[in-house]
Amino acid sequence: AGLGEIAKANGITFGAAAQGGLLGRDPAYAAAFQRECALLVPEYEGKWAALQPAAGRFDFKPLDSVLRWARANGKAVRGHTLVWHKDLPPWAQAALLEGPERARAVLAAHINGVLDYTRAQLRDWDVVNEVVADPAGSDTPQSEPGNLRASPWLAALGPSYIDTALRLARARDATLRLTLNEYGIEEATPAADEKRRRLLALVRGLLERGVPLDAVGLQSHLQLAKPFDPAVLTGFITALRDLGLAVLITELDVRESWDAPQELPARDALVAERTHAFVSTALAAGVRSVLCWGLSTGHSWLSTEPAVAMPEGRIHRGLPFDAQWQRLPMWDALARAFAGR
Ligand code: G3I
Repeated sequence: AGLGEIAKANGITFGAAAQGGLLGRDPAYAAAFQRECALLVPEYEGKWAALQPAAGRFDFKPLDSVLRWARANGKAVRGHTLVWHKDLPPWAQAALLEGPERARAVLAAHINGVLDYTRAQLRDWDVVNEVVADPAGSDTPQSEPGNLRASPWLAALGPSYIDTALRLARARDATLRLTLNEYGIEEATPAADEKRRRLLALVRGLLERGVPLDAVGLQSHLQLAKPFDPAVLTGFITALRDLGLAVLITELDVRESWDAPQELPARDALVAERTHAFVSTALAAGVRSVLCWGLSTGHSWLSTEPAVAMPEGRIHRGLPFDAQWQRLPMWDALARAFAGR
């Protein structure tokens, strides 16, 4: 049985980020998603640059390649992401510089157009992505209002852009699950402690203002170079769930440290151990939806993004499959965690 079936037998939804082009033209890729996933999230096709490349001109063809495959193969799909500081096409970046009225109109038109088109199939969206100022990041002035990350949206509309995006989404689709998605809030480091504090303060403020929010996504791009403390993760998930929010693992993968051991068995054991510890802790704290950011190291940002790549051509092994679709130890770690073993 694939990971999706093992998860489902234990009341958990498992899935992964998918690339529409590959679903349509790579049989091994499509077979893996069919076998392993109950849920898909488009890795790129749900982002602004893909959906609205020109003002008022939506292009749903890339997203349709994911939606159509999912429908044909009985898979659910979640949306990623309506508001982000990245992948804004030049026309939108220019519009945001024209002042708050134009910025709000552009935001509303995007959210309304996308939610209208995807309503029948997408019942959960990352409405806002990576909005909290990253204490570890070098790209965020720490003085941003409300400890929010610098963003064209923040510059155009101020801190209330998050309220506005969530209110627009709820107004357009009353039963859509509205998710706020974030990274760097999973491990036991001072920076992650601060980022978790900032996120909780942001979320509490939203809820106190009556802003609609249903879930928080922990991206979970885990780094073996950082310590993990189950009690810290449990406390954080519990604090979010005590606010009435669901908590999802949305982009799970594992990066090794550069000083990782060279031999594969030792490296794989570390990846499997961290995966099992993290997912088991999250499930015990009430998480019921787990997505990996891709299924295979052959199609992963971990292998292509210079900022996270390994040295001298070595590649990360922090996904369930390698480039030849052979199971990596992370597969067993996930299967055991889903089965409560
Ligand atoms: O730019 C072309 C575009 O012109 C073309 O139409 C499109 C067709 O598919 O491809 C685009 O190429 C690249 C795209 O991935 C699709 O492969 C973009 O150049 C490239 O920037 C983009 O990278 C993605 C990145 O987000 C930015 O969207 C990565 O694949 C994806 O893994 C990464 O995922 C992010 C999550 O959204 C948020 N959390 C962090 C995670 C990793 O960075």
